[in-house]
Amino acid sequence: MTDRESFGPVAAHYDVLMSHVPYDMWVSYYQLLLAHVGSKPKRLLDVCCGTGVIAELLAEQGYEVVGFDISPEMISQAKKKALEKGLALSYHVADAAHFELGETFDGAFSFFDSLNYIIEPDDLASAIERVARHLTPGSTFVFDVNTAYAFEQQMFDQAETSRKAPIRYDWVGNYDPKSRIIRVSMSFERDGVEFHELHVQRAYTVDELLEYLDQAGFGEVTVFDSYTLQPPRKRSDRLHFVAVLD
Ligand SMILES: C[S@@+](CC[C@H](N)C(=O)[O-])C[C@H]1O[C@@H](n2cnc3c(N)ncnc32)[C@H](O)[C@@H]1O
Repeated sequence: MTDRESFGPVAAHYDVLMSHVPYDMWVSYYQLLLAHVGSKPKRLLDVCCGTGVIAELLAEQGYEVVGFDISPEMISQAKKKALEKGLALSYHVADAAHFELGETFDGAFSFFDSLNYIIEPDDLASAIERVARHLTPGSTFVFDVNTAYAFEQQMFDQAETSRKAPIRYDWVGNYDPKSRIIRVSMSFERDGVEFHELHVQRAYTVDELLEYLDQAGFGEVTVFDSYTLQPPRKRSDRLHFVAVLD
């Protein structure tokens, strides 16, 4: 089960909080990976789309994009922005482990360690199988994951305390190397209003992910040290998987 103490109150502030994230570069890298495997999709599925920042960037480039996310609050933000920007995006609230949209796509992606939030291995295997069922043969599924190394390095221990910052926060992670689960206690404050969330992620090994992809019918899979075309390193904190459906 995904922890639904996450992506509730924070949804309304998510885009401000992530304003430093190089989403444009991420989209370019996604397109580089697609070109690397000779994939030219037109209809994309954004798995765990959040507030739809990446879906918007791709829609602006002419792709047709459908996104879904387990958080109604994140989807509500995504829908509001699509309306304001006049983008023909469609969004749904759904759990990746069980979703059924009744339509198919010729590409799918899931970025920003969204799949790490699926902490039950069976649910993640099921999510990957559900993605495969929504793709036409030969389609590519590209996703990123945080590694156990990233959690060991306490990547989530972050704080923004400047009074000038639009939103202040203090995050503290507690990592259990045995289960490879990290629990991050997040405190936020904006305009004098405080709120808290608990974010729980699991690190999966490359072998585990390759097994789930294989079970789902993705025959050709390449794994990269994120934002490069190099293989994973011992100290990769994030990996990108490029999986082509048989
Ligand atoms: C770090 S955010 C990334 C959102 C978006 N992909 C982006 O790049 O901004 C992770 C997202 O995964 C969603 N999520 C977590 N577990 C999920 C699940 N089981 N099914 C669907 N969405 C899920 C969360 O609600 C959240 O919006």
